[in-house]
Amino acid sequence: MNPIQRGVLALCMMTAGGAFAADAVSLTIDTGKPGAVINKDVYGQFAEHLGTGIYEGLWVGPKSKIPNTKGWRNDVVGALKDIHVPLVRWPGGCFADEYHWRDGIGAREKRPVKVNTNWGGVDESNAVGTHEFFDLVEMLGADAYVNGNLGTGSAQEMSEWVEYMTSDSKSTLANMRRKNGHDKPFKVAYFAVGNEAWGCGGNMSAQYYSDLYKQVETFLRAPKQYRPKIIASGGNDNDITWSEVLSKELKKQTDGISFHYYTIPTGKWEVKGASTGFQENEWISTLSNTMRMETHIQKNTAAMDKNDPEKKLGLFVDEWGTWYDVEKGTNPGFLFQQNTLRDAVVAALNFNIFHAHADRVRMTNIAQMVNVLQSMIITDKDKMLLTPTYYAYQMYVPFQGATSLPISLKDNPDYSAGGFRVPEISASAARGADGKLYVALVNTNPNKPADVALNIPGQTVKSVKGNLLTASAMDTHNTFQSPNAIKPVAFSAAAGADGKLTVKVPAKAVIVVAVE
Ligand code: AHR
Repeated sequence: MNPIQRGVLALCMMTAGGAFAADAVSLTIDTGKPGAVINKDVYGQFAEHLGTGIYEGLWVGPKSKIPNTKGWRNDVVGALKDIHVPLVRWPGGCFADEYHWRDGIGAREKRPVKVNTNWGGVDESNAVGTHEFFDLVEMLGADAYVNGNLGTGSAQEMSEWVEYMTSDSKSTLANMRRKNGHDKPFKVAYFAVGNEAWGCGGNMSAQYYSDLYKQVETFLRAPKQYRPKIIASGGNDNDITWSEVLSKELKKQTDGISFHYYTIPTGKWEVKGASTGFQENEWISTLSNTMRMETHIQKNTAAMDKNDPEKKLGLFVDEWGTWYDVEKGTNPGFLFQQNTLRDAVVAALNFNIFHAHADRVRMTNIAQMVNVLQSMIITDKDKMLLTPTYYAYQMYVPFQGATSLPISLKDNPDYSAGGFRVPEISASAARGADGKLYVALVNTNPNKPADVALNIPGQTVKSVKGNLLTASAMDTHNTFQSPNAIKPVAFSAAAGADGKLTVKVPAKAVIVVAVE
């Protein structure tokens, strides 16, 4: 624990308990009206063949001096296991629509070298293919989300890939999988037909895509017990046309529709804003922009509700996170950015939004797992560091598979600056699989702490215990020189003599606690 973290902890321990402060935000949790289960896959990750996300970051090959298992880095895999990664989406992204699965099976030295046209024009060795990907998810104890190639592929190619992965027959393709080292079918939890069909996936209209999807889905045959959930590639940002058209047209042929939304500080793709060294105006614009996720989900859900009021279809936010200008001196096609306290706050705000929509949002994948965009881990040769976003995922582990609970916030003022405003406190509550009640609190205000008075009708709260993530500066981040500049510290608070409990949430902080 560094001196700043020690100071924060001491402050919390001193000020946490006691009677309701006069100007406290009031958080009421209705434990009597449980909502939907928060699918563990809401905490999914995205690993694309992009920059050093897979090669170097995760995969070093079995002959590397960097300790590895079947080519996957032991340090990185170990750290990812600690945050219980439930699901990994692969191989893209835009990359998926130029990926031909046959390039990635069989003897590695004989695999064709291709050009990664989307991401930096670098060589793609195809060293990581289907079997290697499943080695990774098996090591992580995660499920697999495979994204098919609609852009430059065909119904036949996708159909054969699904057969190769899932068939238990004696077909030539199933036997080829056996010959390549995997006797039993792979478990493919989700299979998507294309990616961003409105853009890098082929610049299609929603109607045209939906016709193509119907054709492809018809031929995605898999034994019942191995059949993946089939996902239709949906819209992004403000565009709800895709959710409207696809929920109407594909209702009987899909398990859900994807949606992408990236948080950009300036809101402009040309100059997005820096990952570090930003001022308060870009702190708040980032938080305000990320909170648009709420409206996006509401609008897409409303569009889907018209055609699917039974909520059979999921809205899968299979790409989200911050997107900044790349770090100076790095390949612009590699999308490498630093990750600060601001990113952890962004992650927590999104988690709280996803929990509130757990009935429709049943899977999400942050972009991306290692070294790319809002990553969990940054590597440099044989070294790795954990980012503040990693710690947000770690703190929220109890919410995986938990049952969401309705909350209401009263007297929650807006924090405003630079023409933007966001609610000061964001919160979420759920009954964990272990039976405990978990509460997450985010203070968006970088300038002052906030008192949050806990009110749980029918329950006397004695104390809360968990973890706190904060730091002295808005852009505090870990580096290889200072890898522990920001990490969670233990946090607890006890009720006052009046039996009431107020949590003092430090400025710019994330707290996750169990209620006792
Ligand atoms: O995550 C990076 C890229 O962003 C993905 O490849 C693409 O789907 C999206 O535009």
